[in-house]
Amino acid sequence: MLIIFGGSFDPPHKSHVDMAKYLSKIGKTLIIPAFCAPHKHGAAESFEDRVKMCEIAFGDIENVEISTIEKELGKKSYTLNTVKAIKETTKEPLALAIGDDMARSFDSWYHAEELAALCKIFVFARDGKTDLSALEKTGADYKMLDFKPKCCASSGFRKTLDFSLLPQGVTQYIKANSLYGVEELYKRELRRLLGDKRYNHCLNVADEAKRLAKLYGANTRKAYTAGLLHDITKELPQKEQLQMADDFGIIMTDLEKRAPKLWHAITGAAFIQNSLEIKDAEIIDAVRYHTTAKKDMGLLCKILYLADYTSADRDYDGVEQMREAVDKSLDEAMLIATQFTVNDLASRGLPIHPDTVEAFKQYKKR
Ligand SMILES: [Fe+2]
Ligand SMILES: [Fe+2]
Repeated sequence: MLIIFGGSFDPPHKSHVDMAKYLSKIGKTLIIPAFCAPHKHGAAESFEDRVKMCEIAFGDIENVEISTIEKELGKKSYTLNTVKAIKETTKEPLALAIGDDMARSFDSWYHAEELAALCKIFVFARDGKTDLSALEKTGADYKMLDFKPKCCASSGFRKTLDFSLLPQGVTQYIKANSLYGVEELYKRELRRLLGDKRYNHCLNVADEAKRLAKLYGANTRKAYTAGLLHDITKELPQKEQLQMADDFGIIMTDLEKRAPKLWHAITGAAFIQNSLEIKDAEIIDAVRYHTTAKKDMGLLCKILYLADYTSADRDYDGVEQMREAVDKSLDEAMLIATQFTVNDLASRGLPIHPDTVEAFKQYKKR
């Protein structure tokens, strides 16, 4: 049997996962995210993001597959069209899994009787008192499933941003990509930890990082998140930063211990990982190396490093030249920026971090 389990999955939550696991024991289960454009037909996030979140949420369950058939079918896909299209691809009997709320209005679905003739209907009943007369009217061959999903809805998550409702991987995807307005949570955290000037700087770096990401083909949302959070621990008292480094098990080199200006990159990366639960390696790396740079920086890492130099709030001598360079070539701009840092620190007799020296040498060689 092939079971069709459709929905907006906006986002997929833990109960969806439990339901998919249950269905997969009965037969091969197709997870079908509804194709609807964000902010138009009820979906908060794009089809592509919802598919990715489904892959994360359901990808490991045996006998479960994610299908993008509703996108292939086009703009407005009624369940009937989806079921018909799937029927053409298989000889297996089909079942359609629906919630009891859907079952109550089944007779009003598009060509409900025709749909009921094509597949069995599996009903997930939350309270066990479901009125199934709407299903019966269509002559559907239905079955109440012996499984009560916990009461949990994507809309509930969207209202509360209660991440305990979601599988961990989905949480991480949402946090890294700032979906569902999660950046508002980050901004609240920044407001709590930073003064007006630094807060404003972070917003500007986020905008600049996003602009550069678009220009150079990086993930714009990750760039925005990294920009927003890069200086999050910068105004914590030194004592607190040292304590934080200690708490997170960070061992600083002697040079780092002597350079408090570098601490916020180290503690910031640990803070977003541990306290904000952003586990995305590119974002963490970008925040970690936004002050020193390093050898072999990834695209997002370079973008954040440079956005910190060229954000709209910057007004040092030479900023215009830097802005021109960054729009022409990231690597050329990296050379100028690391050279500037090396010269500046050397002229003031300050220690230069080996990561900065290595980055400078690498860009100079190019
Ligand atoms: Fe910084
Ligand atoms: Fe900064």
